[in-house]
Amino acid sequence: MSTSDSKTTQSLAALGVTETAQVTPLFANVRARFDSDASAAHDEAGWKQFRDAWLGRKSGVLTQITDNWLKPATPELKRAVGASLNELRAHVESHVEARRLAIEAGAEEAALAKDRVDLSLPGVIHPIGSHHLIRQVFQEVEDIFFSIGFSVVEGPEIETPYYNFEALNIPEFHPVRDDMDTFYLELPKGAPTPLLLRTHTSPMQIRTMEQQKPPVRVIVPGKVYRRDNPDATHSFMFHQVEGLAVDTDITFCDFTGTIEYFVRQFFGPSVKTRFRPSYFPFTEPSVEFDVSCPFCGGTGSSNGGTCSKCKGAAWIELFGAGMVDPAVYGFVNYDPKKVSGFAFGIGIDRLAMLKYGIDDVQIFFQNDVRFLRQFP
Ligand code: PHE
Repeated sequence: MSTSDSKTTQSLAALGVTETAQVTPLFANVRARFDSDASAAHDEAGWKQFRDAWLGRKSGVLTQITDNWLKPATPELKRAVGASLNELRAHVESHVEARRLAIEAGAEEAALAKDRVDLSLPGVIHPIGSHHLIRQVFQEVEDIFFSIGFSVVEGPEIETPYYNFEALNIPEFHPVRDDMDTFYLELPKGAPTPLLLRTHTSPMQIRTMEQQKPPVRVIVPGKVYRRDNPDATHSFMFHQVEGLAVDTDITFCDFTGTIEYFVRQFFGPSVKTRFRPSYFPFTEPSVEFDVSCPFCGGTGSSNGGTCSKCKGAAWIELFGAGMVDPAVYGFVNYDPKKVSGFAFGIGIDRLAMLKYGIDDVQIFFQNDVRFLRQFP
């Protein structure tokens, strides 16, 4: 930097300047150095050094010129040196300031460039997800029953044996308890009743009838549990929608008509339904509902071979149902001579598998997004 140039630290006499004509080139020289220093200052720190080197009160170049050239100058030279020094000072002051502004503006521009938002970049995608297929099928089933006057009730997954079995006409040691083995909760000694995970949504038949007088028209969506080993069609937890309709004049025809309506709404108008005698302790008579195989159109064959879904049977078993057994009314203080009704228990996982062609129930519970995304 300029201070390393020693000319301004010497007197004019020492530099051999004796005539006015020599003063102008001397100052031109200093000014050229100043201009080159100015263009070398690029950042704030460099600029401060540059400013001090030229304007510093103690040893800045302008002070040196004042002290070493102007003050000791002979009267003949003093005028010329003074005039040149004033010119130089004006140049230095204005350019030091101009340089500061330029550096500030440059820094600002750089900061702006760093922060600039590139509107051409792709946005940040926040996937909102979708309802699980099981949830969607629940919704489909609920909507169909809403349309014919049913409403939804929900109940506890932890139940007492009374609601899960006894009040449903399944006394202890009844053989159907074998099919409905379940998980019991570990309770402190002396607990008033054992607690279990409900094996079906049917306990809500009892709870609902305890709460309301007829007419009753409810569906009960929910989770149920059984002590089953997992395979393509079994899971220790699955989903059901219970249905219950009780009134003073409900007939078997109301029952089959309601179920047929539901099945057609769910699978489409071309499917046929049939029912076969079955057994449940809490319905009498009990039936098993079948639907004509939606995959082969109820023919039993597809692509010239046997239909793989119904195994050639043309029918697929859908769910169990029946007219409410009069014995059940005894548990809820309904008069079996005055009321009648029907109940059904739809397996939602099974329904979803049939409608959407899924052959392994386990896939519902693995939460693999490649599966979930197919049902947006
Ligand atoms: N609760 C029975 C089951 O899980 C189904 C059912 C419900 C049958 C209502 C008849 C009436 O398997």
